[in-house]
Amino acid sequence: MAIRSLQRSKLWSESNWLVASLRLVLIVYSLSFFVDSTSDRSNMVRLTLSSKAKDRGAFCLDGSLPGYHFHKGSGSGSKSWLLFLEGGGWCDTIESCSSRAMTSLGSSNYFKHEVAFLGVLSSDPSQNPDFFNWNRVNIRYCDGASFAGHPEAEFKNETQLFFRGQLIWEAIMDELLSMGMSHAKQAILTGCSAGGLATLIHCDYFRDHLPKDASVKCVSDGGFFLNVPDVLGNPTMESFYHDVVTLQGVDKSLDQNCVAKTEPSKCMFPQEFLKNIRTPVFLVNAAYDFWQIQNVLVPNSADPDKRWAMCKLNIQNCDASQMKVLHGFRSSLMDAIGGFHQSKDGGMFINSCNSHCQTSITESWHSPTSTRIENKTIAESVGDWYFNRKQVKLIDCPYPCNTSC
Ligand SMILES: *[C@@H]1O[C@H](CO)[C@@H](O)[C@H](O)[C@H]1NC(C)=O
Ligand SMILES: *[C@@H]1O[C@H](CO)[C@@H](O)[C@H](O)[C@H]1NC(C)=O
Repeated sequence: MAIRSLQRSKLWSESNWLVASLRLVLIVYSLSFFVDSTSDRSNMVRLTLSSKAKDRGAFCLDGSLPGYHFHKGSGSGSKSWLLFLEGGGWCDTIESCSSRAMTSLGSSNYFKHEVAFLGVLSSDPSQNPDFFNWNRVNIRYCDGASFAGHPEAEFKNETQLFFRGQLIWEAIMDELLSMGMSHAKQAILTGCSAGGLATLIHCDYFRDHLPKDASVKCVSDGGFFLNVPDVLGNPTMESFYHDVVTLQGVDKSLDQNCVAKTEPSKCMFPQEFLKNIRTPVFLVNAAYDFWQIQNVLVPNSADPDKRWAMCKLNIQNCDASQMKVLHGFRSSLMDAIGGFHQSKDGGMFINSCNSHCQTSITESWHSPTSTRIENKTIAESVGDWYFNRKQVKLIDCPYPCNTSC
């Protein structure tokens, strides 16, 4: 009986994740459609499939070639590079990875051939004041494990799945280095969600492969996934990461100091390895990150009677007891970044919005209506920190005090 209910809850959580990732695909799809139909074509940057990938055995989940979109820098930005790692959840089972392999998150056969460069990727100085003329690269996510899977974990039977995330990262780094990045004077690795986590995982590798005298820093957006139990007290996120790490052999890419000390899958959580990153890091994270509320704190498996359905859709719908739980989530985030707050080189913009991925959308990155703390947009805050114009340790007051959300 106990085993049956365990299996049942596992099924619940799997379908839950599938629904979450399908929903994400839908959101991304409709967003890109929206962008396509409303913005002018000058934002669009075409896809390049990686030329180094095949020799290095770097493939998407389905065996197709990985790719990126490259916009060449100019003028004062010609020796500056900004790499953006795309996000889109993870897959933790053969079934969920096989379904993903039939989408643009697991196969370049489904990639759009052009994407819009917005927010931190924009070439418009009014939208992207500090980085608009840098070399900018949007690296597509098609491995399902934050660019950190290893082929040793692949099955030797007819299950046709490639776990090559780490190789994709290395192949594309190689390729960009040979395209001029090896002479970079300034560089930023960034990314959102699963790509924000990948940013932290690969931050020191990025630093170590660029010239010693270059100014190299990392900006993780919406990538600080917390190891907290869900509202029923179950370790939903921890067991999910355990399954991702085990399935795809991710432990080899994780911080080895951490892996030596604890269960490797725990080292997927930034709170466990942030202090070991040698390169300066900036965290952009919403304290009421909607993805984490929907999938970490209140996954469907923890809300069988759908009491949270409305609140999960919009924080304005939450009742007092639900708000108490959400404020508790914010407090856990504050605890987890407490040590980082003391770090000399680190920076942060922790706003109290109900959002997720704020750097790649013009409206939240830098616009007259975007979220601000101390009257600074995210773009201005990241710029102030990157160029050492000032210390940036911005933490918003709890919801709903900031009206700029
Ligand atoms: C391949 O091996 C894996 C791991 O042992 C197993 O879970 C899976 O079901 C196998 N697939 C097939 C098609 O036999
Ligand atoms: C906030 O910043 C904007 C422009 O960045 C400026 O025009 C405005 O006066 C500032 N507001 C306050 C209250 O300082």
